[in-house]
Amino acid sequence: MIRFEHVTKQYGDNVILNDLNFEIEEGKFVILIGPSGCGKTTTLKMINRLIDPNSGRIYIDDKDINTIDKPALRRSIGYVIQQIGLFPNMTVAQNISVVPRLLKYPKEKCDQIVHELLEMVNMPYEQYAHKYPSEMSGGQQQRIGVLRALAASPPIVLMDEPFGALDPMTRTVLQEEVKKLQRKLNKTIIFVTHDMEEAISLADVIIFMDKGEIAQIASPEEMLRNPANDLIRSFLGKHIHDNNETLTISSFLRTNIFKVGADRGILECTELMALHGVDTLLVTDSDDRYLGTVSIEEINEHSHEKLDSIAPLVRRVMPEASITDEAKACFDKLLVKGGNYVVVLNPDQTIAGIVTRSSMARALASAVWGD
Ligand SMILES: Nc1ncnc2c1ncn2[C@@H]1O[C@H](COP(=O)(O)OP(=O)(O)OP(=O)(O)O)[C@@H](O)[C@H]1O
Ligand SMILES: [Mg+2]
Repeated sequence: MIRFEHVTKQYGDNVILNDLNFEIEEGKFVILIGPSGCGKTTTLKMINRLIDPNSGRIYIDDKDINTIDKPALRRSIGYVIQQIGLFPNMTVAQNISVVPRLLKYPKEKCDQIVHELLEMVNMPYEQYAHKYPSEMSGGQQQRIGVLRALAASPPIVLMDEPFGALDPMTRTVLQEEVKKLQRKLNKTIIFVTHDMEEAISLADVIIFMDKGEIAQIASPEEMLRNPANDLIRSFLGKHIHDNNETLTISSFLRTNIFKVGADRGILECTELMALHGVDTLLVTDSDDRYLGTVSIEEINEHSHEKLDSIAPLVRRVMPEASITDEAKACFDKLLVKGGNYVVVLNPDQTIAGIVTRSSMARALASAVWGD
């Protein structure tokens, strides 16, 4: 448990944090959110004593953190920052085991930790352990940053906008991974973001800060139902209306779709189309990831060529949406852009389903008139 009591911080005459009081229960995923400059990073850095308050006290498990030796305190708290902060001249394995080595764990134990953690995020040891940060993508580096923070199994992990610099897809995947790790390892995580989407999907508790004060502490549901002020309401924005009877993409999704591998023959696909009365087929690669569609027009146009498979005819032209998008995104694509259907993808690029005009109309009809 972490407790702030009357914590105040000022730089000169500038009051950065004004009399913060709150408590965080063990094992919770807590999001600190608020406008830029409201004091989120400052609050976080006080927990591992990178910054000391001017007045007030902070307790971890009822122990005043001022009475804990600083290095010992920091080793018991994992820390992930936005700029990743991997050591560039150390391999992945060395980066992950920094703290365990500081703690003088035997070498076998360090190796075992590296193995186990890499396995948890599906990065095979053989493939990644000996790579240097510069040999990996931003998302992979950030995964290692998260693993490093977990390596000595600290009960508390602080994360300061860890995924802010990543593209939305990688971000969604890492959010899911962190949430899974947190549940599995039962950590207390304090996670800073200014993205409400991220907050709602991850948090057990959201602490909303504004100008160095706490504006509201609540679960995502409570906050959605009862935002304490207009600023919070505007941060919640579109989510508020979505609150009760949400029409998400999944309400419209047709999931019984047929898809074919790109290695299938032309004739086979033409037959499939005729059999199912469709004029396009969804095409996937050997890992079941979406590649595009092949249409009967395209097949006709190339009928004089001797093609071994449909691979050269696959086009990525259908409108696409992510399963995490709002339903409205799909409407716009179908109605405004006039597509036949929207291909809805999972974060790992596999096909979640499609939204057609008729599946959308049916779902809307049942929302309006009931089943
Ligand atoms: N060392 C410092 N000296 C003076 N002022 C500082 C110092 N560090 C931070 N501040 C000020 O304290 C306030 C809070 O900063 P903090 O970094 O905690 O904000 P934040 O909520 O994390 O913002 P962001 O979302 O932009 O990261 C800001 O107004 C900042 O300018
Ligand atoms: Mg910050």
